[in-house]
Amino acid sequence: MAAGGFPKGFLWGAATAAYQVEGAVREGGRGESIWDRFCRVPGAIANGDTGDVACDHYHRWHDDIENMRDLGLTSYRLSISWPRIFPQGKGHRNGKGLDFYSVLIDALLEAGIQPAVTLYHWDLPQALEDAGGWTHRDTASWFAEYAACIFNALGDRVRLWMTLNEPQCAAFLGYGEGIHAPGKRDQGAAIEASHVLFRAHALAVQAYRQVSPTHGRIGIAIDVHPMYPYSDGISDREAARVADGRTNRWFLDPVMKGTYPEDILSLYVKNKVAPRVEPSDMDLLKGNPVDFLGLNYYFPQRPYASDAGGFLGFQYAENRGWPVTEMGWEVYAEGLSDVMAQVRRDYDNPVVMITENGAAYADERVVDGQVQDDDRIEYLASHLSEARRAIQDGVKLEGYFLWSLMDNFEWSFGFSRRFGITHVDFHTQNRTWKKSAAWYRDVIAANGAAL
Ligand code: FCB
Repeated sequence: MAAGGFPKGFLWGAATAAYQVEGAVREGGRGESIWDRFCRVPGAIANGDTGDVACDHYHRWHDDIENMRDLGLTSYRLSISWPRIFPQGKGHRNGKGLDFYSVLIDALLEAGIQPAVTLYHWDLPQALEDAGGWTHRDTASWFAEYAACIFNALGDRVRLWMTLNEPQCAAFLGYGEGIHAPGKRDQGAAIEASHVLFRAHALAVQAYRQVSPTHGRIGIAIDVHPMYPYSDGISDREAARVADGRTNRWFLDPVMKGTYPEDILSLYVKNKVAPRVEPSDMDLLKGNPVDFLGLNYYFPQRPYASDAGGFLGFQYAENRGWPVTEMGWEVYAEGLSDVMAQVRRDYDNPVVMITENGAAYADERVVDGQVQDDDRIEYLASHLSEARRAIQDGVKLEGYFLWSLMDNFEWSFGFSRRFGITHVDFHTQNRTWKKSAAWYRDVIAANGAAL
C-alpha cells in the first residue's frame, strides 16, 4: 500500500456523460437520440430544459481538459454518443463523430490523463427506438456493431472500457417508470429491456476480445444500493431481500455469473413479466466475463413490507429525518463499504472501480469567485474514507470516479441539480472551481493522505 492508504497507480478520476455535457446535438453529423426526443415531451424535464447546449463541451473540451489537468486527475470517465457515430443507429458511419472522440482521446493522453470510456450512457439513437429500442432483441447486435467500430477506432489508445452505464436506469426508468427516455411505462417491457441490455453487454465484451485481444480492460458500470430492512421484523427483512434481488442481484448476477437470481426470476415468471431468454443467452453471458466491475454508488435504500408494492411486496421508506442531498438521497457513506463487501463476498472478490459517486447540493451561487460547498466535501471525504477502509479489508478497488467533473444536464431534473466540483454558469458557460475542486486536487496530490 502506498502512502495515503490507496494503492500505487490508483485511478483518481472524475466522470461525465455525453448527453449531459456535450451539447451540439445537431452538429458534426450527429443523429437524433432518445433524449433529444424525450426533452421535447411537455413536463418531462424540469423547467423545460434540454441537453441541446448543456456544458457546450463539444466546443470547450480543450478548456475542460485543462481543468482536469489542474485538478491532477489521472483518469477521466467519458461516454461516447452512439448517434454521433451511427446517426441512424446502424448502417451509415459518421466519420466526423469518430474524429471528435479521437482528437479528444489524444488530448487526454497528452495531458497524462487515462481515458475511461463508456459506450452507452443512455443516448440511444432515436431510429433504433423507433424500431423497438431496448425491448427489441436486435438492438443488442446493433450495439455490438457500434462497439466493434469504436474498439477498432480507439482501442489502440483507450485501455479502460465500460459497455453500459446503469442498465437498471436505462431499463426501469426508461421503459418501466417512464421518467427517463424513451418514457415508456410498462414493467414487462422494462424487464425485457434489461435482458436485451445484458445481451448487448456480453456481445460487446465478445467483440472487444476479438478486436483488442491484448490491450486494455473492459467492464460495466452498475448502480448499486445496499438494502437495509426498515425494521428488524421478519417481513421487512424479507422485503430487503427481494429489493436487493430486484435492484442489485438482477443486474450483478447475469454479468458476474451468467445467471439470473432464482428468487426474482421465479417471481417474474409467476407474474408473467419474465424476459424472453433463449437457451444460448446465458452461455453468452457466462462466456464473456468482465475484467472489472464498475460500481456507481450514491445512496442506500430502506425497504419495508407493503402490499402497495405489488407482487414484489415492498416499498422504500420515506425520509425519517436522515441527512439527504439536494436530490433527497440519503447520505450514508458506510453503504459504500457495505455494498463493496457484498460484491466481494458474492462474486469472488473481483477487481472493482467506483465509477460514480458524488452529491448534488444547492450551490449555484458564485460569491467572490467562490462556491462554498463544504457539504459536498464532507460527502466525498466520508465516502473516500469508506473506500479506503474497503481496500484495507481486501476489496480490490483500483479507481474512484467522482460524479461529476462539472455541473451538467441532470436528466429529468435538467439544470436544477448540480453535482459538479466545477461550477458551470449555463448562461455564460463560465467554469469556476468550487471549494471541493481544490480539496479534491489536494486529495489526489497526496494519494488520499489528506483525507
Ligand atoms: C447516475 C447517472 C449519472 C448522473 C448521476 C447523478 O445515475 O449515471 O449520469 O446523472 O446519477
